[in-house]
Amino acid sequence: MTDRLFLVGMMGAGKTTVGQVLANRLGWQHLDSDGQVEESTGRSVPEIFAESGEVAFRAEEANALARAAASATPVVVSVAGGAVLDPENRRLLARSGSVVWLRARTETLAARVGSGHGRPLLDRDPPAALGHLEAQRRPMYQQLAQMVVDVDDLPPTLVAEQILAGLDRLSQCADKGEGS
Ligand code: S3P
Repeated sequence: MTDRLFLVGMMGAGKTTVGQVLANRLGWQHLDSDGQVEESTGRSVPEIFAESGEVAFRAEEANALARAAASATPVVVSVAGGAVLDPENRRLLARSGSVVWLRARTETLAARVGSGHGRPLLDRDPPAALGHLEAQRRPMYQQLAQMVVDVDDLPPTLVAEQILAGLDRLSQCADKGEGS
């Protein structure tokens, strides 16, 4: 089984919580790309957006992902929703481990993010922004993911169970030389 697992998907899909559950279950390290950016810059994500702009944030995000993808120990990485916009990030994820898309309906995401507080891209009208961003990113999540979990009606523990079962199937296919 691959020893780097990347969780992708929209804001509100549950990547951070599911990542923590999975890392616990596997005994792997857990990294969160937003958390890594905050740690390396000493600023919060909203602060970086407000003071330096989205382009500067995306550069920090790419650095954080490169560090996570180079991890020498097994790791589950919760990848912030917009990281897939950068083709270089997509190539990095694709060659560095297994990618799982936590897919959710826009209504589910909107209910989970509420007012969008702490999420700069959602400040004005979270449901509309989520719908727009999801439509733009869906093909990228789709293209990258070896596994898709529909998370709308599942608690994080069951999402994690589905991923663990899916990873077993992926590794059995790899052992048999399928999909190569
Ligand atoms: C963003 C997602 C956020 C954070 C920033 C931008 C995006 O992370 O990086 O607010 O563009 O989708 P989460 O997906 O972890 O909420």
